Amino acid sequence: MAKRVLVSGGAGYIGSHVTVELINAGYEVVVADNMSNCDMTCFEGVKKITGRDDIPFFEIDCCDYEAVEKLFAENSIDAVIHFAAYKAVGESVAQPIKYYRNNLVSFLNILEVAKAKGGCNVLFSSSATVYGEAENLPVTEQTPRLPATSPYGNTKQMCEDILRDSVAAYDGVKGIALRYFNPIGAHPSALIGELPRGVPNNLVPFITQTAIGKRKQLSVFGNDYDTHDGTGVRDYIHVVDLAKGHVAAVKYATATLGCDVFNLGTGTGYSVLDMVKAFETANNIPVPYEIAPRRPGDIDECYADPTRAYEILGWKAEYGIEDMCRDANNWQSKNPNGFEA
Ligand code: UFG
Repeated sequence: MAKRVLVSGGAGYIGSHVTVELINAGYEVVVADNMSNCDMTCFEGVKKITGRDDIPFFEIDCCDYEAVEKLFAENSIDAVIHFAAYKAVGESVAQPIKYYRNNLVSFLNILEVAKAKGGCNVLFSSSATVYGEAENLPVTEQTPRLPATSPYGNTKQMCEDILRDSVAAYDGVKGIALRYFNPIGAHPSALIGELPRGVPNNLVPFITQTAIGKRKQLSVFGNDYDTHDGTGVRDYIHVVDLAKGHVAAVKYATATLGCDVFNLGTGTGYSVLDMVKAFETANNIPVPYEIAPRRPGDIDECYADPTRAYEILGWKAEYGIEDMCRDANNWQSKNPNGFEA
């Protein structure tokens, strides 16, 4: 079994949850983060949840090749889970070079060092965004990828391709791309969670900020989509389930050869209004909303067929939608000001 796992971007939202689950499963974890989109709140939370005060933390930027090389040399890394990337779709459209440089260079550096050390298991944090507006739902890993509609989405596709080609070319380099659907919620301890900067782009952080009174109301972007109630449908997955999917993938990568791709989703789609209702039921707090125009680039509906992850990794999501809404609200209530605190 891979013993020491580097989690790049490990102080962030998903990375911190993955660090917890890896430690719970008996792995040694080394965390690297350049702190560009997080503070130490989550890393401190990880230490509290796991009772481990000794988790190695390196404040480095994976775009710095020498820093990555030194990190590998000094820590005998067996596997990497690479989260360190920018993730705001709209910002990527406005600042494409920033996105291409950061997301591609950091991943190239990880792969180059993995190759130079004679091999490594490399897990890449990809996204359901690679499927775009798929013709048939649910999407399986065989569903064709569609041309990306943002530089962010394009970096996900490009990194998947770079991983595939690197695994094919370099002995010992093994790779898995994990395509996330919509991760939400927080650790049930409410010690780690998502801390969006400024006005949240994503639905659930906007709902939780509305529920605590920080935002006046939620804008529901469009109610004329081709869905059961006209609002957009997505496959929301509890971030702890998602994190456990990574542990299963690390185990699998160690035991197999080659390159692979898995969907990490629940298989069920919920609309924006379903989410509002679930949140209100789970927390007994009203969420005022108005119907607003569609957001450019949004699609009607997207949800996963997660069968392959179950059959091959033995993983499936366990938490329900109300658990996700409850944990999201508990975290938000404990951190009303997020980064500004
Ligand atoms: N929505 C609203 N109001 C808001 C925010 C979102 O109505 O204030 C709606 C959107 O229109 C969409 C749904 O809520 O129908 C979900 O939107 P999110 O922004 O939460 O999530 P997306 O599905 O648009 O995008 C997310 C990630 C991307 C990733 C994609 C993968 O943000 O990084 O899932 O499918 F690429």
